[in-house]
Amino acid sequence: MSEEIVNAFKEKHEENVIDASKKLKVGIIGTGWIAEAHVQQYKKMPDVELVAMADLIEGKAEAFCKKFEVEGARCYRSHTELLANEKLDAVSVCTYNSTHAECTIDALKAGVHVLLEKPMCVTLEEAIAIRKAEKESGKIVSVGFQPRFNENMKMVKKIVQSGVLGKIYYIQTGGGRRRGIPVPYGTSFIEKDKGAIGALGDIGCYSLDMVLNAMGYPKPLSVSGYTSDFFGKSREYWKGVERPEEYADIFAVDDFAAAFVRLEGDVILDFRIGWAMNLDTSGDTIIYGTNASLRIPSTECWNGGIGGNLKLYQTIAGEEVCTEFEQKKSSFADDFYNKARSFLDAVKYGGTSPVPTSEIIYNQAILDGINKSAKLGKEITLDIPEI
Ligand SMILES: NC(=O)c1ccc[n+]([C@@H]2O[C@H](COP(=O)([O-])OP(=O)(O)OC[C@H]3O[C@@H](n4cnc5c(N)ncnc54)[C@H](O)[C@@H]3O)[C@@H](O)[C@H]2O)c1
Repeated sequence: MSEEIVNAFKEKHEENVIDASKKLKVGIIGTGWIAEAHVQQYKKMPDVELVAMADLIEGKAEAFCKKFEVEGARCYRSHTELLANEKLDAVSVCTYNSTHAECTIDALKAGVHVLLEKPMCVTLEEAIAIRKAEKESGKIVSVGFQPRFNENMKMVKKIVQSGVLGKIYYIQTGGGRRRGIPVPYGTSFIEKDKGAIGALGDIGCYSLDMVLNAMGYPKPLSVSGYTSDFFGKSREYWKGVERPEEYADIFAVDDFAAAFVRLEGDVILDFRIGWAMNLDTSGDTIIYGTNASLRIPSTECWNGGIGGNLKLYQTIAGEEVCTEFEQKKSSFADDFYNKARSFLDAVKYGGTSPVPTSEIIYNQAILDGINKSAKLGKEITLDIPEI
């Protein structure tokens, strides 16, 4: 029986060949850490011409081009300068969270399609402004959730979409790290005016996308949220870095968040996310259904990946069975390539956005709702306009 169930979800894979006769002029705004993954994937694509880079820090875009051997690209000191001087087909917005909205909106106004790094932005108001600009421009925005392109994550969606779970009524999701506040190349993740939101925006958005995408993005209705910063604000946590007091002082975002979210269709979403905690993991994601439930194993350093075989629990002919879906090999580079490629294919052939803002605005509404509810100390109703 179990093998039959597994086979029912198998799919064929087809290799896509890139037509290099039509080139796309692509730029990158923000040449920091994640821009490295963008440039590495774009360089594999024979139809991409990397023509322009921008970064606020003097010499950073130039050094980036040199490091990644991007020849002939013009470098600018701001996204506005780049957009004013270049005629691009598409741009990757790889800036820290606080400038996602302005860079994306300005690019759309300049007639450029946008691959926007996650999280979509910081607030729901910004997400609404991005949606409006996208609609007015007729261009597309795809939000950079590479885990969606992972075969295991696709399997999660196929299982949920098959209806095998029956009515989904409760979801537990999130993730955590024992010690994992990300400061690998600087402090932009933990500063208020740059990162603006912490674990929520960095890894919380992945957990939400995993379950909401699988379910077809039901609308969130209300949120009761909590945030804290006990680890990031503690000098003890930063022991070992050069100036622990400086890190503790500039830390101004959440390092832990939790929420109880009501979704359209009478579904409860129980969420928690942590960059740091006194625990190995905050648990697996579990989707509870009236006919079956699905367990998606977490990882000890949550970043949107899956930590083991998916497990589907059912009762068949009175027997309690558990079907395991063997974890498929995946790589960050492949997922990243597919996130960039799916976006460029939509740009090139006039398709719809692979990770559309019409969905991710709900993700953003939850992140923003958690922050607002936490500040107020009570549940809030989410008011998300149709755009
Ligand atoms: N998809 C992933 O796996 C993944 C991984 C890491 C980070 N990210 C996301 O990528 C974004 C950037 O993260 P990072 O670690 O690369 O940050 P970073 O601080 O290393 O780089 C951001 C760069 O953007 C530049 N910048 C900011 N505003 C600008 C503007 N208006 N014009 C030009 N340049 C501007 C900054 O000067 C900086 O160099 C974040 O939103 C983060 O959440 C995604």
